[in-house]
Amino acid sequence: MVIAVAGKGGTGKSTIAALLVRSLLLQDKKPILAVDADPNSTLGDFLDIKYNCTISDIIEETKGLRNLPDGISKPTHLEYQLQQAITESRGVDLLVMGRPEGPDCYCMANNILRGYLQKIVANYSYVVIDNEAGMEHLSRKTSQNIDHLLLISDATIIGLETARRIKELIDKMPFLNIRNKNLIVNKVDSGTILANAEQITGLNLIAILAHYDELSQQNDSPISKLDNNSASIKSIIHLIEKL
Ligand SMILES: Nc1ncnc2c1ncn2[C@@H]1O[C@H](COP(=O)(O)OP(=O)(O)O)[C@@H](O)[C@H]1O
Ligand SMILES: [Mg+2]
Repeated sequence: MVIAVAGKGGTGKSTIAALLVRSLLLQDKKPILAVDADPNSTLGDFLDIKYNCTISDIIEETKGLRNLPDGISKPTHLEYQLQQAITESRGVDLLVMGRPEGPDCYCMANNILRGYLQKIVANYSYVVIDNEAGMEHLSRKTSQNIDHLLLISDATIIGLETARRIKELIDKMPFLNIRNKNLIVNKVDSGTILANAEQITGLNLIAILAHYDELSQQNDSPISKLDNNSASIKSIIHLIEKL
């Protein structure tokens, strides 16, 4: 099952992606591949997984390479390097795109990420992709199957309208095959009334997540340190049941 998380910066994409990974692990739903496709990479920190290299690092290295060992082509070399970019950690593997240098590299990093993803998704029971705001980078050339898109918004009209715009952009991306498009309204204070969220966004409202103090505390890796019984993990387990 491929789950992709999208939405405006700061809405809680990486937090929710990391909570999904932790909750799936808790339920023994593995193996899991966690993909950080946002150049502003935070998923590894949230999951407390240290990684050695990113796809962008590999591109930089390969660029500088003049002589490959005899008989090894650049694609073969790249494939080998990409395997090295997967960090294995207790039931979850992490693949990080990193920050490509310049627009050409950005494009190349995304092409490589998509091509490689297509090859390896079948090896995993669950793939969780933490994206940039929209999913422009996943939408070119190579078709990408996504079972559940989770578009994250805050509980404001402006936030919901932004989610609608992102949804409309995603609808126009021909290479994305998305089975279900869902809305999550995140950081909702008690008492907030969320009428019309589905009408505004055109999305199926699958979860309303509270503002959890346990998540907003500014420590280094809040998600990996959360207690198994914490309220935010419970609510994400509930969400997974609905997928
Ligand atoms: N439900 C929540 N309750 C409280 N704080 C949250 C919640 N979800 C996210 N946050 C906080 O909001 C901030 C932005 O979250 P983050 O996941 O980094 O957003 P994004 O990846 O969309 O940019 C972080 O400080 C995070 O701890
Ligand atoms: Mg993020």
